[in-house]
Amino acid sequence: MLGLRRLARVLRGSDSSAPLCASPLGSREDYLRLWEEVRSKTYPVIDAYEREQGAAIDREWLDDLALRTQVVIKRSDLCYQHGRVLYAALRRYMRDRRHEHLNIVETGTARGFSTLCMARALSDAGASGKIVSFDVLPHEDVMYWNCYHDAEGPRTRADLLSDYAKLIERYIVFHQGDTRRLRDTVFPRVHFAFLDSVHTYDHVMAEYAAIQGRQREGDMLVFDDYSAAYPGVTRAADEICQAHAYASTCIEAGPSRRYLVAEKQ
Ligand SMILES: C[S@@+](CC[C@H](N)C(=O)[O-])C[C@H]1O[C@@H](n2cnc3c(N)ncnc32)[C@H](O)[C@@H]1O
Repeated sequence: MLGLRRLARVLRGSDSSAPLCASPLGSREDYLRLWEEVRSKTYPVIDAYEREQGAAIDREWLDDLALRTQVVIKRSDLCYQHGRVLYAALRRYMRDRRHEHLNIVETGTARGFSTLCMARALSDAGASGKIVSFDVLPHEDVMYWNCYHDAEGPRTRADLLSDYAKLIERYIVFHQGDTRRLRDTVFPRVHFAFLDSVHTYDHVMAEYAAIQGRQREGDMLVFDDYSAAYPGVTRAADEICQAHAYASTCIEAGPSRRYLVAEKQ
């Protein structure tokens, strides 16, 4: 646990929303209250995006997953609309491209929310595919995650996600490692990638360096936090799109939460 405590300090120093804490930050009631608040919000731009893509994730399933993996105590506003965006974009990609098997890369697993939204898209489409999700956090070590279930004691990510074991077994590989050293660990072809670990220019560029040359026409890159609060992300994403021929769409869930969905031309 000592190693994890040190990791927690490092991560929280760079990102106030990083998971992992030394003890529970709130009671079950605190997390439930936050959940009720955030799930009652409406997001007309995301509704419209789902209509355009012709696919929408099951909202009850999403909200339930969010209670376990996205409702955290932090300074910034809670918002888990990237789950809807990832699901809709991936379903549309599968419908348009009809690959026999999909390779998906995610940087920044945290508690596994976005990974599971992508796995649900594969499952609902009856598709074959593998999602490799990278994080410095281990999958099998016991810890507190700053979430609803912390009240029952520390647990592994595998335990936190035990209700989703079938989806995980079929589609997901959780890989512990620093995403600045991804190059040899990603697939030769990356059909779809979600970049969501460290939100600095250098880090995003280092992650993209592992994906560069492994995408073909129509393949997709999604960036979380393409927002003024993260100028490194916006600069890196814009440069990548410009230099490597991606057409991009910016989706605004709220004044401080924007995503960029980019499609290789
Ligand atoms: C914003 S969170 C990811 C959120 C997740 N994608 C989701 O939607 O729930 C960022 C994650 O990046 C991880 N991280 C930080 N530095 C990293 C590094 N150098 N390599 C890999 N992961 C890192 C943190 O541990 C944290 O879990």
